[in-house]
Amino acid sequence: MSPDSIAKLGLGTIGAHAGVHQTNELENSDPIFLTSSFSFESAAQAAAVFAGEADGNIYSRFTNPTVRSFEERLAALEAGEACIATASGMSAILTTILGLLESGDHIVSSRSIFGTTTGLLQMLAKFGVQTTFVDLTDMNAWARAITSRTRLLFLETPSNPLNEIADVAALAALAHGHPNCLLVVDNCLCTPVLQQPLRLGADVVVHSATKYLDGQGRCVGGAIVTTAERIRDKFFPLLRAAGPSMSPFNAWVFLKGLETLKLRMEAHSASAQHIASWLIQHPRVERVFYPGLADHPQHALAERQQRAFGGVVSFTMRGARAAAWQVVDHTKLFTITGNLGDSRSIITHPATTTHGRLKAEQRESMGITDSLVRLSIGLEDAADLISDLDQALGRN
Ligand SMILES: Cc1ncc(COP(=O)(O)O)c(C=O)c1O
Repeated sequence: MSPDSIAKLGLGTIGAHAGVHQTNELENSDPIFLTSSFSFESAAQAAAVFAGEADGNIYSRFTNPTVRSFEERLAALEAGEACIATASGMSAILTTILGLLESGDHIVSSRSIFGTTTGLLQMLAKFGVQTTFVDLTDMNAWARAITSRTRLLFLETPSNPLNEIADVAALAALAHGHPNCLLVVDNCLCTPVLQQPLRLGADVVVHSATKYLDGQGRCVGGAIVTTAERIRDKFFPLLRAAGPSMSPFNAWVFLKGLETLKLRMEAHSASAQHIASWLIQHPRVERVFYPGLADHPQHALAERQQRAFGGVVSFTMRGARAAAWQVVDHTKLFTITGNLGDSRSIITHPATTTHGRLKAEQRESMGITDSLVRLSIGLEDAADLISDLDQALGRN
């Protein structure tokens, strides 16, 4: 199917059909090309492909048909022109920065991002790239932080773990009001099923495929989706030279994940909404952070910008760290791990795990307190998750 006809289809259909290239074997499921290199029929053909004068696969660091199928499927879902797959979400973010910035350039980033991304942005200072961190929802702070060397605005929306919502269209307009300044959105929590940042004006979408794109907690991977020109000129040469590449096996797992993405995101969101509404009335719970709740500060924006509110629910306990750990230690259906987006529900204490390596004052400025608990709602029955949370909350 051509990219133009694919683009007219619904997201469930795109997830099942984009990037399919049946071979002569007429297989009905995507094949895995588990090979490190590809052969040529002649020296002349090898020379032409290596020189970029003829199409063909060379070496799986930068050309592999299974990886390409995943790239095509994700690009179609994100309504982007092209994609490159990477070994992890972090390598997608690093590749984005290395491809677009040079020494002396500046990034303005939301403060409310994944802890390791904060660490990566801080590490870039030694290569001459400085980052200013701002409050995700404070448009004036974003505008004030931009300098003549700002090349990127970077954000996650909803933020992890507090589910704050950024106005993507407004931030895209702000970025585009400055020369050579682009908006990069980490779309890990929503996935293209719930939100397509490129349609809202963002320039680049990055993913940790490790989360919902896989959806069953099996593989680590990442991706960058943007224009074909940017992929060709900025990111592909870096992929070829530096090798932050996705393995074909992982690409195949993610391809299968994309086939069920729409169904899963709808199910995660429906259960999360139910559980957030239950948590908010629990006497041991102080505050619930979920954009689907009417009292969420950016509920109206989330309703406008997203198709549903996602599968992550965070809440603070009345009490300190001990109260949060008590819940973490006593749920039976939630696994204690730092991942999210799995079919199995997950419980995390962000202050001592995913955001544990940040300085205490950095965590405080992000609102990640010791009594905060993050839930990634899986595909189990919501009633079972609620009775499990009920018994764990009752331990306090
Ligand atoms: C929002 C977000 N972006 C990026 C990453 C990094 O992805 P990966 O673990 O695949 O490198 C994570 C990981 O938790 C994340 O939550």
